[in-house]
Amino acid sequence: MPSQGKLLIVDDEKVALKNLEHVMKKEGYEVTATQSGAHALAFLEKQPFDVVLTDLRMEKVDGMQILRKCREACPDTEVVLITGYATLESAVEAMKHGAFYYIAKPFRLDEVRKVVAEAVEKIHLKRENRSLREQVESFQGKVKIITQDIKVQRLLEMARQVAPTGCNILITGESGTGKELFARYLHAHGERSEGPFLAVNCGAFNEELLSNELFGHTKGAFTGAGTDKKGLLEAATGGTLFLDEITEMSPAMQVKLLRVIQEREVLPLGGTVPIKVDVRFIAATNRDVQDMMRQGGFRQDLYFRLNVVNLHIPPLSQRKEDVPLLAYHFLRKYAALMKKDVTEIAPDALELLKVYEFPGNIRELENIIERGVAISTGAVIEAAHLPEDLRDLSIRTFRKKDGRIPSLEEQEKDYIRWVLEEAGGNQTQAAQILGIDRVSLWRKLKRYELEAE
Ligand SMILES: Nc1ncnc2c1ncn2[C@@H]1O[C@H](COP(=O)(O)OP(=O)(O)OP(=O)(O)O)[C@@H](O)[C@H]1O
Ligand SMILES: [Mg+2]
Repeated sequence: MPSQGKLLIVDDEKVALKNLEHVMKKEGYEVTATQSGAHALAFLEKQPFDVVLTDLRMEKVDGMQILRKCREACPDTEVVLITGYATLESAVEAMKHGAFYYIAKPFRLDEVRKVVAEAVEKIHLKRENRSLREQVESFQGKVKIITQDIKVQRLLEMARQVAPTGCNILITGESGTGKELFARYLHAHGERSEGPFLAVNCGAFNEELLSNELFGHTKGAFTGAGTDKKGLLEAATGGTLFLDEITEMSPAMQVKLLRVIQEREVLPLGGTVPIKVDVRFIAATNRDVQDMMRQGGFRQDLYFRLNVVNLHIPPLSQRKEDVPLLAYHFLRKYAALMKKDVTEIAPDALELLKVYEFPGNIRELENIIERGVAISTGAVIEAAHLPEDLRDLSIRTFRKKDGRIPSLEEQEKDYIRWVLEEAGGNQTQAAQILGIDRVSLWRKLKRYELEAE
């Protein structure tokens, strides 16, 4: 029989002690009994107990001392005091010091049984709650979204706000911007964080396989269906289902999914009884959904069901100040994983990272740093450890702006601004460097509205 709990019983009266020990053992507790308060303190040092049942008045080490010891050193132990000299004062004093209960002699054994059972239950609940909380915290802690960009910080704030509501969310953004990470963040901060987080890539399966993934089947539903298979819609109950690349779903699947969201139940292939579905949906896409709806590639009614809230994650090229921060985050991550003592990114390497456009966004940055950590031989990732197309940037000074090639005027404006900065705002010196006279410079400044800067 598994133990009901671990009990320490302390009473300097031998007969009373034997009696309690016998009764509690019969109840199924694992009992340690001692007549000495000093021994009790020693036991508490060595092993964990759920409940200490102790006499209050004892020679030398008394019940109050044992209580104090427990409150200081054993937060997971409840103390029940027994005394023959029950006065209101000592009772209040004991409760003030955190005793679970106070039993006056002469007591009925029933009362002791009941109080000890309650104390054990309380301690078990306390432990259970803590372990749940630790799990949640560790999940929340695992989902770290690193940013110092104001746009992304606002997104995070919004995510924390909508996470607990349980509403469906559509996350949009280019490939590698962190859509799945955001989905995990929403799950971790929601009320379902103790439930499962399951993900399915709708673009990775043909219609039949995706249907099987989502809806599952019963044994014998088709040739080869040897056992029941639970679909993700059912398996995610109580949690979150992340539908990645939602826009890759075929029109027929879109209809089936819409029905599940509306009716909140699902019928596995070959099944006859619908199963209740209690799932939060988070969908993601890197495509332009509005455009797809116009073209008829995505159903508007499904869009409205999923897009209760939209989170759009900006590409890394629009949040360049995040580059060094993320680069160092990944450096630490991969240095630890590979057990290498790489701690730094050389300034010229960092410079290259800052000007690079990152078409693959954060995933690409992560890969670049992972590779850099892998091939670096010292403590520093040098420019030479970066991919070739990135190193080429140092010779090619023309760069795309928001993904397109800038005009000559735009280039000139940027160039004049830079020269002015380098000249510390001194226009005569800037004109000299530019090789034009001061009046021409002044005209250009006016035209490009740079005078105020
Ligand atoms: N702000 C961030 N802080 C830390 N890590 C991030 C951040 N954003 C993204 N990442 C990391 O970058 C990688 C790519 O992110 P994720 O897989 O979430 O992107 P995605 O938008 O789902 O990409 P895809 O569209 O290609 O599926 C992951 O390893 C993720 O942990
Ligand atoms: Mg993804």
